[in-house]
Amino acid sequence: MRVLGIETSCDETGVAVYCGDAGLLGQRLHSQIGIHAAYGGVVPELASRDHVRRLAPLTESLLAGCALSFHDLDGVAYTAGPGLAGALMVGATFGRCLAFALNIPAVAVHHMEAHLLAPMLEPDPPRFPFVALLVSGGHTQLVQVARAGSYRLLGDSMDDAAGEAFDKVASMLGLPYPGGPQVAELAEGGDPNRFRFPRPMTDRPGLDFSFSGLKTAVLTRLAEADAADPALRADIACGFQEAVVETLLIKCRRAVEQAGVDTLVLAGGVAANRRLREELGAWARQAGVALRYPAPALCTDNGAMIAYAGWRRLMLGERVDDTFPVRPRWSLEELRDPAA
Ligand code: KG4
Ligand code: ZN
Repeated sequence: MRVLGIETSCDETGVAVYCGDAGLLGQRLHSQIGIHAAYGGVVPELASRDHVRRLAPLTESLLAGCALSFHDLDGVAYTAGPGLAGALMVGATFGRCLAFALNIPAVAVHHMEAHLLAPMLEPDPPRFPFVALLVSGGHTQLVQVARAGSYRLLGDSMDDAAGEAFDKVASMLGLPYPGGPQVAELAEGGDPNRFRFPRPMTDRPGLDFSFSGLKTAVLTRLAEADAADPALRADIACGFQEAVVETLLIKCRRAVEQAGVDTLVLAGGVAANRRLREELGAWARQAGVALRYPAPALCTDNGAMIAYAGWRRLMLGERVDDTFPVRPRWSLEELRDPAA
């Protein structure tokens, strides 16, 4: 079964084809960074409009690159949420219309399930059961995964997500949107011991997260510091990154112990962070835990993870219902008089 995956939940248009027999056949990604950078964050209306512009040509280019035609597709999977309403509508409308025109099934995919299952596309996929740390721009969650499709939320962010904290700190440091990778890059040259920022909510039991206080601590430090200090920004970026990484590590350790599993999956945009992978990797090796994460391009938003998650659900018979909001054929006699 060949499934077209469509991702339009935020500021990336992603499409891919996943085949049950041959794996990932190809993918295309268009980033809207250039459009939103001037505003310092995603402008929802501009995001929707750009998805409208890009989605059809990107899909055509993907199919041409895979030497496939639309008629070679057996199903369509699209991100149905969570995400920006208008942006989601574009992918959902395109996906459902395409499936309707081709007379093939469509399925609605949960964006975070797709992130969570992205490591399944790698050569050495995780084995169930496992605990997953989902760290993206909108979510920081620890999930107990008995098997694909069975999820129990162990911990969640009370305020800012980890990626959001990276993006906000980036903006404080004068780095362009989206700031996560830029903060990470700046931190490479920083001194990890100069600034010690709080590790929020690690001094009490529980698996929830809160990163807004850490963000404020960074802001306070910046306001107090000597702006002319050439090492300041790198040292702050480094101290901040270390605080986020250690906080995530402490909670992952707890979650794995609590769930009694021996596999930890790391997914979502922040999972691309080198220091996070390094620190979790060091702990996992010594604790005998199998750590699995996708390649960086499959950590951030992409169509491949949607195609895979949708393929799995389609194979199990799941479909969006095919009722259309309009009726091309509609007999006057079918009308019921509400007053009768
Ligand atoms: O999963 P994703 O692409 O989109 C959402 O579903 O939100 O995650 C995007 C987030 C952004 O906040 C971005 O700054 C962050 O992931 N991010 C990183 C890195 N790469 C992306 N944060 C820290 N280090 C990175 N290398
Ligand atoms: Zn995402």
